[in-house]
Amino acid sequence: MAASLSIRALTKVWPNGTRALEPLSLEVAGDEFVAILGGSGAGKSTLLRCIARLIEPSSGTVQLAGADITAAKGRALTDLRARVGFVFQQFNLVPKYTALENVLLARVPRRTYWQGILGRFSDEDRAVAARALEQVGLHDKLDAPARELSGGQQQRVAVARAFAQEPRILLADEPTASLDPRLADVVLDLLRAYGRDHSVPVLVNVHTVEHARRFATRVVGLRAGAVVFDGAASSLDEAALETIYGASVVTNVVQPRAK
Ligand SMILES: Nc1ncnc2c1ncn2[C@@H]1O[C@H](COP(=O)(O)OP(=O)(O)OP(=O)(O)O)[C@@H](O)[C@H]1O
Ligand SMILES: [Mg+2]
Repeated sequence: MAASLSIRALTKVWPNGTRALEPLSLEVAGDEFVAILGGSGAGKSTLLRCIARLIEPSSGTVQLAGADITAAKGRALTDLRARVGFVFQQFNLVPKYTALENVLLARVPRRTYWQGILGRFSDEDRAVAARALEQVGLHDKLDAPARELSGGQQQRVAVARAFAQEPRILLADEPTASLDPRLADVVLDLLRAYGRDHSVPVLVNVHTVEHARRFATRVVGLRAGAVVFDGAASSLDEAALETIYGASVVTNVVQPRAK
């Protein structure tokens, strides 16, 4: 299958001179669930944010289904961004908005001029948003303000918001770091199912090796802004973890699962 996401020679140098991404290239097909692993500061968040153009890369290109995200401007950029689903660790919901209103935010870029002026959404937008909330098991919470939902429910609203974008790619930056283990599994399962059912690439910064092993089809290991491991989740052995995290961290912190 042709790659859906194509990253070529992507770099990010922060204004203070920190090199967060070395020239990084990656091809991800529409049927892959990629877990990104790496120590703190390895460049995981920077990579996902550059793909979504939440931050500007310093050089290189990111193409999604053939469209160049890095070169897009104005309306073209808005349209491309509207199809990049992004799930954040801290949910990023509007606390006083209901679950449905939060999910409807995904449809804002699709509104006509007059719908925007009047602050209205089409029946189709409302149906898509309600369906997305059903998909994540929150059909009974449509009218609940986000601030009254539990952490797991809030993250599912955020996932529903990403689904309502009808995304061409799903990116998630440590989406489970604030959740208990059972809810973490639910969220990763939802992302995996969406990717599989819609043939879109899913890239997730996971914060445990176990999640990478259980959910991902492929693991990309980052270290100092460079890809140091790229292989099947099943090939993530101790040597690979040492390459990604360094020997001392693996022994002391990561504790790979016993075979
Ligand atoms: N706004 C910023 N300004 C300057 N440097 C930054 C900025 N954001 C991140 N960095 C630096 O870029 C590098 C990569 O950071 P990034 O946040 O991508 O790491 P990460 O792999 O996501 O780490 P963590 O696991 O702690 O979330 C680090 O050296 C970090 O200090
Ligand atoms: Mg990060």
